[in-house]
Amino acid sequence: MTPILEISGLSKNFGGLKALQNISFRINPDEIIGLIGPNGAGKTTLFNCVAGVEKPSLGKVTFTKDGQATSIGGRKPETVTLLGIARTFQNIRLFDNLTVLDNVKIGRHCRYKSSIFGAVTRSRSQQAEEKAIAETAEEFLAFVGLKGRGGEIASSMPYGDQRRLEIARALATEPRLLMLDEPAAGMNPMESRELMDLIERIRKKGVAILLIEHDMKVVMGVCDRVVVINHGEWLTEGKPKDVQNDPKVIEAYLGSGAANAA
Ligand SMILES: Nc1ncnc2c1ncn2[C@@H]1O[C@H](COP(=O)(O)OP(=O)(O)OP(=O)(O)O)[C@@H](O)[C@H]1O
Ligand SMILES: [Mg+2]
Repeated sequence: MTPILEISGLSKNFGGLKALQNISFRINPDEIIGLIGPNGAGKTTLFNCVAGVEKPSLGKVTFTKDGQATSIGGRKPETVTLLGIARTFQNIRLFDNLTVLDNVKIGRHCRYKSSIFGAVTRSRSQQAEEKAIAETAEEFLAFVGLKGRGGEIASSMPYGDQRRLEIARALATEPRLLMLDEPAAGMNPMESRELMDLIERIRKKGVAILLIEHDMKVVMGVCDRVVVINHGEWLTEGKPKDVQNDPKVIEAYLGSGAANAA
């Protein structure tokens, strides 16, 4: 199977700091892959390199959609979004003062022709387009469990709901690959169970998922495979259970000697 995303020899330096060193792994189109590692391992940096926020220092990132492979390392974030990769942020990034619905509509706009100019001139076709955007945005809200909440101001919603709103906005761009950066952070146990269900439903829509998450219940519950990085280096990769019991991984998380104690 041709992977939807192939990361090959990816390195990123910030001055003298080697945030990522020679990382390689693949994501198949129907997979949920976990990306785990201790704080500062380089997980968010890897997302940023894929999403066009950071330019890789070395290595290749290849995205393949409908049989067409595109090298995306160093492309602009808008280009990467249009190709079919969406992401959420470790520190939630919403338009705080806009409504919930408007936040999702903004994600949706990238798939339409008319933009700000269209909103001002309001020709008939543009009005029809706006209506379609709003309707689809409502559908995405319902999909993530925020049905009927479109009129609320984004920043007034509880944390867990804001995380789901970010996912709705990301889905509105019609990705084939969705990258989630710690989506369960700040969620209570019930919310994280709902999140696991949501992630499964997203996969069923034909979207591959790359998931950074510290909540091991979520990682173990939904991921097909897990890639572990530590200090910017690839440590291991495998089935969730195997990775969880791997002494190398336990040691990376808990420090030297922990593997024997565990
Ligand atoms: N823009 C930047 N400039 C300089 N250093 C950076 C930058 N972004 C990240 N770093 C450094 O790169 C390393 C990896 O950071 P990164 O945020 O990718 O880790 P992480 O695995 O996402 O950690 P966490 O689990 O805490 O979110 C850290 O040492 C961090 O301080
Ligand atoms: Mg991070």
